[in-house]
Amino acid sequence: MAKLTIVKYGDSILRNKTKPIVKITKEIKILADDMLETMYKSCGAGLAGPQVGISLKICVIDILSNGKKNPLVLINPTIIDSANKIILEEGCLSFPGIFENVQRFDTVTVEYMDLNENIKQIQGQGFLAKALQHEIDHLNGKLFIDYLQPWKRKLVEKEIKRRKKGGNW
Ligand code: CO
Repeated sequence: MAKLTIVKYGDSILRNKTKPIVKITKEIKILADDMLETMYKSCGAGLAGPQVGISLKICVIDILSNGKKNPLVLINPTIIDSANKIILEEGCLSFPGIFENVQRFDTVTVEYMDLNENIKQIQGQGFLAKALQHEIDHLNGKLFIDYLQPWKRKLVEKEIKRRKKGGNW
């Protein structure tokens, strides 16, 4: 396994739409392993292909419920059902040190392919639902700051600009 470099906000790949994965190859399995390792080492709860420079529909999630590892690899995930709204604080490994409140669905059902090419469904609530929506957004070129009020978003952009100037991004 290898730790991959995480792309930060400002890189255009984060805005690109990703391609579906048709076949689970050895390369995809290695990529999934590397993405999980990168996520754990960076103390994140999720990581999507574009964040490691790969424009494919793959993401990994682990919310470490009860402190235990429960790695989830989702290929071509789509939200097929959602209910209720909730506002939770959110961060992103492509936005180090930036945390903002975002409104999401409190419950979502996601259909995806696993690494054995089986089609599966997972239902998430609360933190897991948030992670699923955040990572699937990444696969569509959408970022969590897109949900902020314009004034709030401006503040965040300003802060990032300041950090970039200081070589801290
Ligand atoms: Co993210």
